Amino acid sequence: MRIIAVKDAGQMGLEAARLMAGVVREKPEAVLGLATGSTPLGTYAELARLCAREGLDFSKITSFNLDEYIGLDRDHPQSYFAYMKEHFVDLVNIAPENVFLPDGVAEDLEAECHEYDRLLESYGFADLQLLGIGTNGHIAFNEPDDHFVAATHKVALTAETIQANQRFFDRLEDVPTHAITLGMRGIMSARQLVLIASGSGKARAIADACFGPVTPKVPASIIQLHANAVVIADREALALTELAGQV
Ligand code: F6R
Repeated sequence: MRIIAVKDAGQMGLEAARLMAGVVREKPEAVLGLATGSTPLGTYAELARLCAREGLDFSKITSFNLDEYIGLDRDHPQSYFAYMKEHFVDLVNIAPENVFLPDGVAEDLEAECHEYDRLLESYGFADLQLLGIGTNGHIAFNEPDDHFVAATHKVALTAETIQANQRFFDRLEDVPTHAITLGMRGIMSARQLVLIASGSGKARAIADACFGPVTPKVPASIIQLHANAVVIADREALALTELAGQV
């Protein structure tokens, strides 16, 4: 695992976009694994800028997102589908039919999970998987547990995750309690992992994920086992590691 220490969230966003743009240039029909949340916003903004100003071409790119809330349809403003439309799909020249997210209102959620894994595998998995990290160490919505889950699955969000997501909703009761998440097989099958983190709220999770034991109690720690994983973290997120003084 390689750690790129950067000054702040702005640098983190640019660095992640630089790696992603490299993949898009090298392989115009690449598959990108995408994340939502606050952390990737700067990355998507930079990819949009590169598309508009420097002709970075997404026309043959396919994307697969990590997760979606159960119970929110695609038109709900807080659905991850709506997030991707607002921050990425409408801002670059990716073909909307090449953008995949799990369907959080599918009638048969089990079948939806199975189908999502089948589809991702049929595309040969992601060339690059972008990941954020939860304050509790989750990646996608693989929450701390006593075992890793390989397949895409339905998950009950932890109280900490529900609390963390409340900032996007009017009331705590409005925050979805369940999600569909890509499992560890889909994530770890990507050719490259790029995990981004900024701010002191992520410091404990980053220290444990990068330097602690590989354990499902800290789901992100599994990326230590990936042959090509890059962590891009800012000074505050690295505060509890020995890299703290180096940025
Ligand atoms: C989102 C996702 C989550 C987030 C994580 C961090 O698709 O998979 O794992 O990456 O919860 O969220 P932010 O960036 O909002 O701190």
